Amino acid sequence: MSATSSPVPIRVALVGAGAIADYAATALLAIPGVTIPVVCDTSPVRAAELAAKTGGRAVTDSAAVFAAVDVDAVSIAVPNALHAPLAIAALEAGKHVFLDKPFALNAAEAEQVIAAAARSGKLFCLGMNQRFSEPARRLKALVDSGRLGEVYHAKAFWQRRWGIPKLGTWFGQKALSGGGGLLDIGVHMLDLGLYTISDFAPAAVLGATYTRFGNRGLGESGWGKSDAAPGAVFDVDDFASAMIRLKSGRSLALDATWAAMQEVPDRCGIQVFGTEGGAILEDGQVRLVTRSAAGEWITTHSPEVGVLPFAHGCRFRNAINHLRGEESLATTADQALAVQRILDAIYRSSATATTVPC
Ligand SMILES: NC(=O)c1ccc[n+]([C@@H]2O[C@H](COP(=O)([O-])OP(=O)(O)OC[C@H]3O[C@@H](n4cnc5c(N)ncnc54)[C@H](O)[C@@H]3O)[C@@H](O)[C@H]2O)c1
Repeated sequence: MSATSSPVPIRVALVGAGAIADYAATALLAIPGVTIPVVCDTSPVRAAELAAKTGGRAVTDSAAVFAAVDVDAVSIAVPNALHAPLAIAALEAGKHVFLDKPFALNAAEAEQVIAAAARSGKLFCLGMNQRFSEPARRLKALVDSGRLGEVYHAKAFWQRRWGIPKLGTWFGQKALSGGGGLLDIGVHMLDLGLYTISDFAPAAVLGATYTRFGNRGLGESGWGKSDAAPGAVFDVDDFASAMIRLKSGRSLALDATWAAMQEVPDRCGIQVFGTEGGAILEDGQVRLVTRSAAGEWITTHSPEVGVLPFAHGCRFRNAINHLRGEESLATTADQALAVQRILDAIYRSSATATTVPC
């Protein structure tokens, strides 16, 4: 596209009009040339409310979206068990797919989505939004600059004290979600940790997951718009911890909790350890730790790193720019699959109390 020509129009349907769909709608409509002709949700109320904001029509059956001739791409944000089936149906109908995390219930499903994308020739993009924050891009650029020396270990953590989504909804039901905090927020930090150190080749995993609060009706934060079913089971993890060995010889430690007895309400970040420096992203700030020749410890806040990647800072803009041939895709299908394989391995390791190959 030249500086003066209009951007290529792209019509994106929203499938799922729940809590995150508001953000998707706002982010998509902020992109020149993008429209939202249709919003779909099995709840007619939520579909109509969001469609009224986006200016599109409301439907309750995703098949109507996939059959629509005025839809080029679909943004899918529904309960996790529907990710793979709806993504495959959309791809088979010739639509590009922007799928919310986590990829799928397991790696076997994720592989089926990747195969459907290859058959259709359409774009499949998993929306790992944490990669696009300014501090995350700063940390990535810092690590890429080589200033940490040889990077050998990273910690990735998202530890909420009382942060389980609305109890009684699909989030807490394994059959609908595939897992709890590990799949919901652990996936973000696992992806961000591996992305930061540019290493998506796992070798083995030791993991432990626990269910200690949601099953007692505790730990709710209220996130999510889905209707709660009274008496619904809570059979997913609200606490997970894992050590991931990478084929390169590096390692990554992951902590993901929806609920935990801890001092602070929320801890979220990435810490990277290198032979010449350490770096941490926490509370939206990046700090670099080094040691001078005289043995003095130096902490540098927001270290200078030059030009940051993805200046727009938006996963949807990345996908749209990629479709327009203007930008490389931030999250490749191979990376998304590697993350899903590690998540599967953590659950397997926890169930068997062994270190498992990955
Ligand atoms: N990227 C992020 O940071 C982020 C944040 C929150 C949620 N998510 C992901 O987005 C997805 C949705 O999460 P949420 O918080 O919006 O959940 P939510 O429960 O608030 O909304 C889910 C919506 O999907 C609708 N739905 C269920 N089955 C459907 C179907 N067959 N067709 C159309 N709509 C259907 C429900 O009625 C509901 O309105 C989840 O996979 C979640 O992991 C991503």
